[in-house]
Amino acid sequence: MDIRFLGHACFELSDGDTRVLIDPFLSGNPKAAVEASELEPSAILLTHGHADHLGDTVDIAKRANCPVVAIVELANEISGNGVEQVFDPNIGGTVKFDWGWVKLTPAWHTAVTPSGPPHTPAGLLIGIGGKTVYHLGDTALFSDLKLVAHRGDPIDVALMCIGGPYTMDRLAPRVATGFSQPGPVFPCHYDPFPPIETDAEAFKSEVESQTSAKVAV
Ligand code: NI
Ligand code: MN
Repeated sequence: MDIRFLGHACFELSDGDTRVLIDPFLSGNPKAAVEASELEPSAILLTHGHADHLGDTVDIAKRANCPVVAIVELANEISGNGVEQVFDPNIGGTVKFDWGWVKLTPAWHTAVTPSGPPHTPAGLLIGIGGKTVYHLGDTALFSDLKLVAHRGDPIDVALMCIGGPYTMDRLAPRVATGFSQPGPVFPCHYDPFPPIETDAEAFKSEVESQTSAKVAV
């Protein structure tokens, strides 16, 4: 399974011909690694509908004719915007695909789309290529993050926001890496805009000196 960081909270997970796209905020992100038009995902998974996560979802899903997974209220809105294949779990629910599965986990944050009513944000636990990937979503540090790691699927990779002030900052994930006991940690949500800029290399050196986790910046 390959992981590509596409900027902000957006990642592409690949296994063979399967490409799973998470939180594709590309248009309007000055640090985006690709153009939205370059992507041809097998599925799009969303943590929540803030503009820096929903991003290009509707356009990509319509062009690629791929399914979108989002919490039910957000899923309904995306469906109303003309996306044909929408899966609408709630927190704790799992959606299964030929290539693997995705489960919504709790995240402490707020969420509303640019045009819709508020909804509950989530983290994403994803099984692909025999690995378990945990995208924490936008969240504060909270103790139930521990439960996600101990539900039976050891976490192989954690994708973790570190930028503050809209999510936990780079000091909190030091604790979170201990909760999730992952393999590599990929920091995200720290770069495109000045309020969330942080020193990812400092995060790496602090985590690696204080925990057994490895950080891939
Ligand atoms: Ni957010
Ligand atoms: Mn965000």
